[in-house]
Amino acid sequence: MEPLLKDQVAIVTGSGGGIGAGIAEALGGFGAKVVITDIDETKVKSRVDHLASVGITAFGVQHDVTSSESGAAMAEAVVAEFGQIDVLVNNAGISGRVPLIEMTDQEWDAMINVNLTGVQRTSRAVASLMKAQGHGSIISISSVAGRSGKKNMTHYCASKFGVIGFSQSLALELAADNVRVNAICPGIVRTQMWEVELAEISEAKNITIEEAWTQTLAGIPLLRPQLPEDIGAAAAFLASPLAKNITGQALNVDGGFEMS
Ligand SMILES: NC(=O)c1ccc[n+]([C@@H]2O[C@H](COP(=O)([O-])OP(=O)(O)OC[C@H]3O[C@@H](n4cnc5c(N)ncnc54)[C@H](O)[C@@H]3O)[C@@H](O)[C@H]2O)c1
Repeated sequence: MEPLLKDQVAIVTGSGGGIGAGIAEALGGFGAKVVITDIDETKVKSRVDHLASVGITAFGVQHDVTSSESGAAMAEAVVAEFGQIDVLVNNAGISGRVPLIEMTDQEWDAMINVNLTGVQRTSRAVASLMKAQGHGSIISISSVAGRSGKKNMTHYCASKFGVIGFSQSLALELAADNVRVNAICPGIVRTQMWEVELAEISEAKNITIEEAWTQTLAGIPLLRPQLPEDIGAAAAFLASPLAKNITGQALNVDGGFEMS
């Protein structure tokens, strides 16, 4: 049987580490040529080297998702390298917890800019090409915080709910061109992002980091964390022909944490 994503070109934003790195490796493992983009150029280089070392064709571009110019230059570089763009995974994101009354305008703006505007900017950078090709798959990483509110995360939740609304709307806009648009809502993945959250929880509750982690896991019905490769498996499925009739959906990959 042919690999699921043979000859497909897949861009993963923010894939210098964390979930994005896992998504890129999963897509590459299913046969895609992978484009690593991240605001941090050092991370881009080391991920590309790693993927090459495991036999995956990878190309790296430094890219800030908040910038239209950076997105356009990134898409142009990918087309120059591979001639096409079949899959975009909008993964780059930031997080944080702060009560609304203490939140600065800068904290709010940064969250919306990276997590929501970044999805819009990067999707727009590839949408014309996908329309012209007559196929494509755009997958954006939302969150369980895009399904229900979380305390002290008004900015993060607003951005992640926004990603789902954006995806549904764009799915309708691009359906006639056979471009599918979906979202994935990860649960709890212990990346650098969660290390910061655990430090905050441990300080707020006066418990150790590992106690904070144990308490966090106890709230997941399957009683285990999600791994970057779990999110990668979902992305590979949504990108592949197996999902050819799936568009405008948001898929929870969260051990049963959210059920709608
Ligand atoms: N970790 C979790 O439990 C979890 C849960 C739900 C959703 N998510 C979402 O998954 C995505 C990845 O999260 P993660 O846990 O891997 O985080 P992470 O902090 O480990 O990685 C995020 C990556 O995005 C990059 N990045 C940040 N700003 C950028 C910008 N402006 N342009 C380009 N790249 C930028 C960073 O350099 C980093 O490599 C995010 O959208 C996050 O909101 C994470």
